[in-house]
Amino acid sequence: MSTSPDPSSDRLAALLRDKRVIVLCGAGGVGKTTTSAALALAAADRGRRVLVLTVDPARRLAEALGIPPHADAPTRVPEELLRKAGVRPGGALDAWMLDPRIVFENLVKKLAPPEKAKAILDTRLYRHLTELVAGMQEYTAAEALHTFAENQAYDLIVLDTPPSRNALDFLDAPGRLSRFLDEGIVQMFLPREGGGLLRRAGRLVSSVFVRMFGETFVQELQIFLGAFSGMFSAIRAHTEGVRALLGSDQAAFLLVSSPETAALHEAHFFRTQIEGRALPFKGFVLNRSHARAATLPHPSELTHDAEVSQASLDKLKPLADRERSQAIADAQVLDELRSRAGAHGLAVAAPHLGDAVEDLSGLHQLAQGLLPERPSV
Ligand SMILES: Nc1ncnc2c1ncn2[C@@H]1O[C@H](COP(=O)(O)OP(=O)(O)O)[C@@H](O)[C@H]1O
Ligand SMILES: [Mg+2]
Repeated sequence: MSTSPDPSSDRLAALLRDKRVIVLCGAGGVGKTTTSAALALAAADRGRRVLVLTVDPARRLAEALGIPPHADAPTRVPEELLRKAGVRPGGALDAWMLDPRIVFENLVKKLAPPEKAKAILDTRLYRHLTELVAGMQEYTAAEALHTFAENQAYDLIVLDTPPSRNALDFLDAPGRLSRFLDEGIVQMFLPREGGGLLRRAGRLVSSVFVRMFGETFVQELQIFLGAFSGMFSAIRAHTEGVRALLGSDQAAFLLVSSPETAALHEAHFFRTQIEGRALPFKGFVLNRSHARAATLPHPSELTHDAEVSQASLDKLKPLADRERSQAIADAQVLDELRSRAGAHGLAVAAPHLGDAVEDLSGLHQLAQGLLPERPSV
């Protein structure tokens, strides 16, 4: 175990102070959404105006932040709630649940003329958007970032990512965008100019589909896919802008993991994804860890405390042994992450907080544990 003072929490504080975008990646269930919210809260506590873009927050977390499920824009976390949770005044926190349908709807409204936008939005296909459009979930993050990165209302955006190995695929523009829509489906449905043969093939295909789905549905599908492919150039430009921002020194990528082997394995996988794309990888957050408890005294070190009988200490010993070996194992994991993070990287550990983590004070507590003591105002 290393005994040297660790600069990791100072580095984390510096990211919260200086960056415009912080992206959190990692396996599903490790605490990406929780950590995103906690870090966003900590940045607000340090006086910044922050937007946290979350993916599938646990219901209680969403409630704690006061974000309604289908909002079409970010919601401000009421100042009073922040104060109650111990957050200092001066900053602000907005939160938004990334919903592909809503982000896409905003995009359509922005890009298409009003009548056309209405026609597109009136199709029933929104419900099927993520099935129809491969990568829509991932692209949603890029589109939201594009919208808010230029927005002077925010100093920092904290971006949570979907629990998918493909979470960063949206950055591989423009090549991947052509695979956005299943090309086979697009070719079958989109009205095509020229070529009699193609047109006849198109008619044939649509008649098959008309028989399968009914005429209205097929027409809606045509409108929808036509509109979507018409927006490709804008989508590509947005993605490229976001790619440039995320590749710059204004961004930072953090990996969240639990101490379990599978989660750590995913974290290392994401690191290769991040560095392979030349994005600024900054380090690890080891969530739900006992690493800090490794420094707690063991019952055998407390025998001189007259308040506690030797017998009861002996009874607690096996329990303490188990806790301690867990703590030592987690501390070793943290040490390994520190050395993997490299000379300028960071690795910080967040404790398991139980249910408390789902309210604002819990989030604040989680973040305080990751950061150096707050400078007094
Ligand atoms: N440090 C922690 N202590 C206790 N519970 C936690 C902690 N971090 C996350 N959780 C809980 O674990 C669950 C999954 O966390 P979440 O942030 O939604 O993970 P992810 O976004 O990676 O899927 C949630 O119920 C959350 O409240
Ligand atoms: Mg999540």
